[in-house]
Amino acid sequence: MHRVVHRRQLSPNVTLLEVEAARIAQIRRPGQFVIVRLGGNAERIPLTIADAHPAAGTITLVIQAVGKSTRELVALQPGQAIQDIAGPLGHPTEQIDAGHAVCVGGGVGTAVVHPIAQGLHRKGVNVTSIIGGRSREWVIFEPELRALGDVIVCTDDGSYGRKGFVTDALKDLLTTVGADIVYAVGPVPMMRAVANLTRPLQVRTIVSLNPVMVDGTGMCGGCRVSVGAETRFACVDGPEFDGHLVDFDELMDRLGTYREFEQRAAQCADGPCRIGLAAPTAA
Ligand code: NAD
Ligand code: FES
Repeated sequence: MHRVVHRRQLSPNVTLLEVEAARIAQIRRPGQFVIVRLGGNAERIPLTIADAHPAAGTITLVIQAVGKSTRELVALQPGQAIQDIAGPLGHPTEQIDAGHAVCVGGGVGTAVVHPIAQGLHRKGVNVTSIIGGRSREWVIFEPELRALGDVIVCTDDGSYGRKGFVTDALKDLLTTVGADIVYAVGPVPMMRAVANLTRPLQVRTIVSLNPVMVDGTGMCGGCRVSVGAETRFACVDGPEFDGHLVDFDELMDRLGTYREFEQRAAQCADGPCRIGLAAPTAA
């Protein structure tokens, strides 16, 4: 069992949980993730390790409450526990050793960008973070990223920082200061837009993908993505890939496969579920 030792609300639907996971805290590296299962029959949820505290034996998980399982997870209070945490899984982030890295985080994806920026900062790389949210209350991890380098905050409505998408700020930065590498994590349209900006400039761009995952071991095929001419599995080959080669349209299609089921599960969590659904078509 993994006890919750700290809980903090980061934005209206994003919650930080610091949980006991001593072995994972010791060996995890930036970019890696865990799969958590709240109880015996609970859904398996992949979550990036946003931070780790080896001395305390804890890891930090950041969860966006979007469906039944994530809502149950964020309802946990200090002292309560998660039954299983498997990891660390996936490949660590490909890091440069010197130069200027730009880390772009959209919404809850900013929590995934944080350990990447942390790893780069530790190596002495100059890090600029561009982080965005719909409005001020959706901007997360700003103080943590400011401790690692320059931060440009963007909000869609202009309520805080610069008005507009993170890609607007990235475009300006690329044409003025430039970058040796760009890391982008957030909604798929954001990562696609980042890749489209950096491709003609030939700036290496790493994106962290979040396809549907089941086993996390490369066996089920749920997390299949197309990268260049190859089929890859995000859980064992990723979760980070060359953004210039990812088939983002296919990723969006596959992410939508179970949307109706996810919405129904969320509704059923609030009361009796009376309406059945046909099985989804294979993707
Ligand atoms: P959101 O929709 O509120 O967007 C956050 C920011 O991303 C915006 O403020 C904007 O700056 C930027 N953005 C959004 N759409 C854009 C576009 N078309 N072009 C350029 N920039 C754009 O984000 P949210 O609700 O916090 O994030 C939810 C999404 O992030 C979910 O789809 C979730 O699955 C995904 N996510 C991805 C990862 C990952 O590892 N890739 C991790 C966590 C969450
Ligand atoms: Fe099953 Fe990746 S989650 S193959």
